Amino acid sequence: MDTTVFVPTDDTRTDGRAVAAVRARSLTKTYGSGAAQVRALDGVDVDFEGGRFTAIMGPSGSGKSTLMHLLAGLDSATSGQAFIGTTELTGLGDKELTLLRRDRVGFVFQQFNLLPMFAAEQNITLPVELAGGAVDREWLATLTRTLGIEDRLTHRPAEMSGGQQQRVAIARALIAKPDVVFADEPTGNLDSRSGAQVLSFLRRSVRELGRTIIMVTHDPAAAAYADRVILLADGRIAGEISDPTPEAVLAGLDALRSLEAPLAGDAEVGA
Ligand SMILES: Nc1ncnc2c1ncn2[C@@H]1O[C@H](COP(=O)(O)OP(=O)(O)O)[C@@H](O)[C@H]1O
Ligand SMILES: [Mg+2]
Repeated sequence: MDTTVFVPTDDTRTDGRAVAAVRARSLTKTYGSGAAQVRALDGVDVDFEGGRFTAIMGPSGSGKSTLMHLLAGLDSATSGQAFIGTTELTGLGDKELTLLRRDRVGFVFQQFNLLPMFAAEQNITLPVELAGGAVDREWLATLTRTLGIEDRLTHRPAEMSGGQQQRVAIARALIAKPDVVFADEPTGNLDSRSGAQVLSFLRRSVRELGRTIIMVTHDPAAAAYADRVILLADGRIAGEISDPTPEAVLAGLDALRSLEAPLAGDAEVGA
């Protein structure tokens, strides 16, 4: 946990509640310039509580990946602020950002991003070892057992299924016990059974291990594993759903679509 006492002025709590694990304040990102300029994020304000599993949903191009990258310190904002705990990412230099990404953030990519020449175990432990840290063997054993990959640790990525590779990538994201794990469509390349295993693990790591997870997904069934869904449209927060069911998520996405597609008949087009 972050023990820094500095609390940004806009978030000084008088109700005794902890500062959110992750926050965005007027977070804005534009790409390009002039006529080609794209406002990928447009003044996003959002809090993600610690120890919760949040899903981010929205149409393709609505800014989901951009938001995740800015919150994880993988990319820099055009304006506004991003915080992990009380640390303002938008005020950090390159070196501090590298340390923050290494020590406090885990990231799971849709494409797994494993190193092909290394076995599963090295893929999981390499980031810790490269940082000069000691791998917590007990935690490694817990992670790999819980993820059901303990008998795959000597296999290279090419010798594993997509679901197994993604579970290795999740173990890699969790090995350093980060404050927050970001997962960008972690089940996007998986069959539904492997996807369900990955989602169950993510939920367990929140419920049983107290992790904080923020996940982008297209799939209402996947989003229903989360405690809360944030809806994005056109780079803005367009709504939120607590304790989502697949039906509630579908209804939320339909409402978004009808806002975005005012042309007659568009709202009836099936998902
Ligand atoms: N590196 C980039 N250069 C230019 N435009 C980008 C870049 N990354 C994203 N965009 C644009 O920003 C918008 C939001 O993209 P993104 O965050 O990837 O959306 P999503 O993940 O919701 O599909 C889109 O219009 C996309 O084309
Ligand atoms: Mg994306």
